[in-house]
Amino acid sequence: MKDSYGRDINYLRISVTDLCNLRCKYCIPKDGIEKIDYSEVLTFEEIEQITKTFVELGVKKVRITGGEPLVRKDILNLIKKIGSISGIEDFAITTNGTLLKEYAKELKESGVNRLNISLDTLDPKKYRDITRGGDLKEVINGIEEALKLGIYPIKINVVLAKGFNDDEIEKLVNITKNNNVEIRFIELMPIGQCKEWSLGKFMPNTIVLDKVKELKEVPREDKSSPAKYYKLPNSKGKIGLISPISCKFCENCNRVRLTCDGKLKLCLHSNEELDLKTPLRRGQDIKELILNEINKKPETHNLEDGEYIGRNMVEIGG
Ligand code: 5AD
Ligand code: SF4
Repeated sequence: MKDSYGRDINYLRISVTDLCNLRCKYCIPKDGIEKIDYSEVLTFEEIEQITKTFVELGVKKVRITGGEPLVRKDILNLIKKIGSISGIEDFAITTNGTLLKEYAKELKESGVNRLNISLDTLDPKKYRDITRGGDLKEVINGIEEALKLGIYPIKINVVLAKGFNDDEIEKLVNITKNNNVEIRFIELMPIGQCKEWSLGKFMPNTIVLDKVKELKEVPREDKSSPAKYYKLPNSKGKIGLISPISCKFCENCNRVRLTCDGKLKLCLHSNEELDLKTPLRRGQDIKELILNEINKKPETHNLEDGEYIGRNMVEIGG
């Protein structure tokens, strides 16, 4: 399936819940957000049906996100269903890692071949602070379990926030010396009700290169990846820099997103959405709708200056 700029759209990110067991300050506002009513949330059958339609249209890569996907009841049943759809060549999940120790083995058995874990600091106190109560140990145990099981690649997403984790950049980079993991630094984006918190803490990703001079750029394996890659000399793992703010990567964008309430989002940086749930529940054919919509995928981030992503990140899934 190609969009009107000739980009092959082959990657679907599915948010399976807007709920999370953490409250990261850049993702969920202090007083929480209004939950999406359960009747509005897609059922497993609906998610499966929509995914199959996308696969028929040429999607080959699927990622499960949230909120925190592992808090959705019976999530492994969904993961098994999606993992067995033929035509999906790459099946991934993004998780905060808190429940990973318990789930890693079954995730692997269900065909999940890639894991992205969100972890912004290695300091237990700072972790508790940024996540409003999270326990760093749980995530570390989860990562160790996944490494032990040989899940590969494991990518650790670090959102950079000024005055919060800029002092940990070298330490985080050094993890890649002896571990075959990818540490990916992500520029903080002002999103939804957390935008005020984020606006004052933005740091361009170039700070990583300024702080760690030994990093050398290496070619990216996947040209549609939004990350640029770097390595320390002789390191086992690598560093990724994802720079949605300072450097756009829309030219090779291959992705679309499905929210947990059944809306198709063609671009993270656009507030346009197409409701797929209502037509699906009415028994309409959604294939035509998707094909028409894909032509509207914007060429690049199309928010005006001073305009921000409206939905909270916890409802989009990154
Ligand atoms: N800016 C940048 N990254 C974010 N994430 C969540 N909110 C933001 C934000 N405002 C990251 C999470 C997770 C991924 C899905 O998106 O840390 O790793
Ligand atoms: Fe939860 Fe991830 Fe949002 Fe943190 S960033 S609150 S872990 S969904």
